[in-house]
Amino acid sequence: MLIYTKIADIQAFLNAKRNSGQQIGFVPTMGALHQGHISLIKQAQQQGNLTICSIFVNPTQFNDKSDLERYPRTPEKDSALLEAANCDVLFMPGVEEMYPKEGKPNFDFGYLDKILEGAHRQGHFNGVAQVVKRFFEILTPHQAFFGSKDYQQVLIVKALVKQMSSPIDIVSCPILREPDGLAMSSRNVLLSPAERLIAGTIPKLMAEAKKRIHIYGIANAKDYVKQTCEAIPQIKLDYYDVCHPDTLISYADTEKPDYAIALIALFVGKIRLIDNL
Ligand code: PAF
Repeated sequence: MLIYTKIADIQAFLNAKRNSGQQIGFVPTMGALHQGHISLIKQAQQQGNLTICSIFVNPTQFNDKSDLERYPRTPEKDSALLEAANCDVLFMPGVEEMYPKEGKPNFDFGYLDKILEGAHRQGHFNGVAQVVKRFFEILTPHQAFFGSKDYQQVLIVKALVKQMSSPIDIVSCPILREPDGLAMSSRNVLLSPAERLIAGTIPKLMAEAKKRIHIYGIANAKDYVKQTCEAIPQIKLDYYDVCHPDTLISYADTEKPDYAIALIALFVGKIRLIDNL
């Protein structure tokens, strides 16, 4: 696996590959890699791409400084995992390389970056769009692969490529789960053993809420999630909502939709987790 830290070097390498007709697949990450990330690499490879993985803990998408400081950083382990997965290129730029100029661009995604995650993490999607746009401009991949645990992020990135009039194909990949159902996340390693057990109940909570949506409607499911979370002192619920999967517009509490996505964000101790079903 080739490792680059400088934009000029990776661009020279990619230009040569592109000129020889090679298709390029890109998997952006913030490191602390797990099998969910590796499944994105595999997906990129299966589509015949030369596969680039980036590791960059993007400071501009963290609304909470302590969350940024606490974010796990395991570069040696990440590199070994990527090597074992036959990833072709690892790109690990520093902050100076990514953001040589001061200032933050302002994106406009309409309502999409103001609801759900956007409402609870001020400026988060602006930071995500900033870094993803920068990577897309540097690497100009044919395809880019994102995990659907970050469902709203996938819609934001799709809106971004539209705004950029970019032909990059955004591929949304399924959530990978631990044996107890917990969605794989880099943040899971930050949970204490007791918190990890509690986090393992999130998928069961989501499954029960889904049943209740079908039988009783959304209001009942929301009450159930709220009350269950309130009964567990280590959990603080940020939101649980049931939305249209294409637009993320909330269904009314009185509805019993067949085509819907339920999204949750909660803290277990100090660690913020998200999931969807
Ligand atoms: O999903 C993530 O890990 C990040 O938001 C991303 C897409 C790598 C941008 O920093």
